[in-house]
Amino acid sequence: MSMASEIPTADLIRMAERDGKQCYVPVLHPCQRHKMEFVRYRAGDQLRRNRWGIAQPVLRLQNRLAAPLFDLVMMPLVAFDQSGRRLGMGQGFYDRAFAFRQQAASKPLLLGLAHECQQSAHPLQAQPWDVDMDAVATPLRITRFR
Ligand SMILES: Nc1ncnc2c1ncn2[C@@H]1O[C@H](COP(=O)(O)OP(=O)(O)OP(=O)(O)O)[C@@H](O)[C@H]1O
Ligand SMILES: [Mg+2]
Repeated sequence: MSMASEIPTADLIRMAERDGKQCYVPVLHPCQRHKMEFVRYRAGDQLRRNRWGIAQPVLRLQNRLAAPLFDLVMMPLVAFDQSGRRLGMGQGFYDRAFAFRQQAASKPLLLGLAHECQQSAHPLQAQPWDVDMDAVATPLRITRFR
């Protein structure tokens, strides 16, 4: 669920639904501070703002899906570089959620959503826990990294 300065996702969700795909969006874990759950979302579902001001649906356990089961994940970012390194908002939510991708090349495909100006002119320095993206989409292009 995009925030003000991010690539808006509402139309992407509507298009995906129209194509018969099932969409899930992040919901903060009620107890574990840096954990996200992914909850089924249909356009029009009731939303509330979480502690970061991001809209999220109500967390119902039966509506969750585990991260390794997704086919495609569209993720926000602050900056990216030419090799698919990703700088987030500094909380490690996405790095934790997709840490299993460090061990094996598996689905889901991790696609960053970015404005052109978010590409760093210099390589970003990665920490051991940083999960690289498979591709990034900007309003002008989709770049596949590996
Ligand atoms: N898999 C992990 N297990 C434990 N801690 C982690 C993991 N991934 C990241 N962290 C911790 O999260 C903190 C923030 O990480 P980082 O600065 O890379 O966030 P980010 O990539 O900007 O955020 P996000 O992943 O939410 O987009 C770091 O202190 C790091 O130690
Ligand atoms: Mg990181």
